[in-house]
Amino acid sequence: MKVGIFIPIGNNGWLISENAPQYKPTFDLNKQIAERAETYGLDFLLSMIKLRGFGGKTEFWDHNLESFTLMAGLAAVTHKIKLFATAPSLAMPPAIVARMASTIDSISNGRFGVNLVTGWQRPEYAQMGLWPGDEFFGTRYEYLSEYIQVLRDLWQTGQSDFKGDHFSMDDCRMSPRPQADMKVICAGQSDAGMAFSAQYADYNFCFGKGVNTPTAFAPAAQKLIEATAVTGRCVSTYVLMMVIADETDEAAWAKWEHYKAGVDTEAVAWLGVQGGADKTSGKDTNVRQMADPTSAVNINMGTLVGSYASVARMLDEVAQVEGTEGVLLTFDQFVEGVEAFGTRIQPLMKSRLSADTPVPSQVAPSTQPLTEAVGA
Ligand SMILES: Cc1cc2nc3c(=O)[nH]c(=O)nc-3n(C[C@H](O)[C@H](O)[C@H](O)COP(=O)(O)O)c2cc1C
Repeated sequence: MKVGIFIPIGNNGWLISENAPQYKPTFDLNKQIAERAETYGLDFLLSMIKLRGFGGKTEFWDHNLESFTLMAGLAAVTHKIKLFATAPSLAMPPAIVARMASTIDSISNGRFGVNLVTGWQRPEYAQMGLWPGDEFFGTRYEYLSEYIQVLRDLWQTGQSDFKGDHFSMDDCRMSPRPQADMKVICAGQSDAGMAFSAQYADYNFCFGKGVNTPTAFAPAAQKLIEATAVTGRCVSTYVLMMVIADETDEAAWAKWEHYKAGVDTEAVAWLGVQGGADKTSGKDTNVRQMADPTSAVNINMGTLVGSYASVARMLDEVAQVEGTEGVLLTFDQFVEGVEAFGTRIQPLMKSRLSADTPVPSQVAPSTQPLTEAVGA
């Protein structure tokens, strides 16, 4: 099974809690995480795009770096790991995104790919005058379908004359073209989002579900299998999960309960309002479930809490779900989390026993200090 890290491009990572480590996103923090991930043979890094935060006492996600420029920097300081940036399709024209991707392909020597999002939160785009109106909730994957056709034209041939309802290219040119096949992620969960992934993407990312229910996302993986049966394309599922691990189950659970006790209710309430604004997408869009009180403290992304051995066992269960190729991990503390994953969890995972995964005795311990930017 492939393993990637959803790197903390926004403040406080994915914990909306006054009791969680409070830190700002910096290049240096993400570079430390990237270097460790590479040391331990992890497969990829993904950064999101978030243009408006949730506020509250923790100013959740009010502080966010930009995804392409961050990944360009990381491309220059890494050597093997694959890198994905997220393109906000309403805010960045496809011909510019195609060229930026080609540039990072050059910096990284073919290790780069793109996560395409429609956007699901009106204020991110309305604040710039870029929200097309609430009817966009219902048409956003039609828009994205045109967008990706322009991207693929430019990446594959260097030229586009695409004419659609949203984009009209007039002998649009782009060179140099990327040296590697440019892989595309979509994380659509609604019917329209999954249909888009089945038609155009290489990977569909979905949310994990629940706490210590590692296979509960299986219906999303199954839905993708059904959607790709229609298109005949090969698209695999990756699942997003947070790891809260420690020496013992008890110690890990104590951390999780502590984070939950400090939930920033104001920020979570704002998330609920945003998720509820979309009345048009399929009923199974996950944005309406993100503020569910069960686990709103980490946006209900699915959580694995336990000892290193327990987490390894649960990750192996994830790998058994049909159609699943990988996991995308977040941590409560990223630098320590990736270090613990590399030294304590990964060596116990049957699904990571491959030629590419370094055995612990062969890994030189990371020389980077464990300096999570807490309080920065
Ligand atoms: C792993 C993952 C990464 C995502 N990254 C972003 C992002 O960077 N920006 C964004 O606006 N939405 C992001 N989303 C939201 C999805 O693009 C998508 O809108 C959401 O899962 C709801 O599905 P739907 O669009 O089909 O309704 C992400 C979702 C997941 C699971």
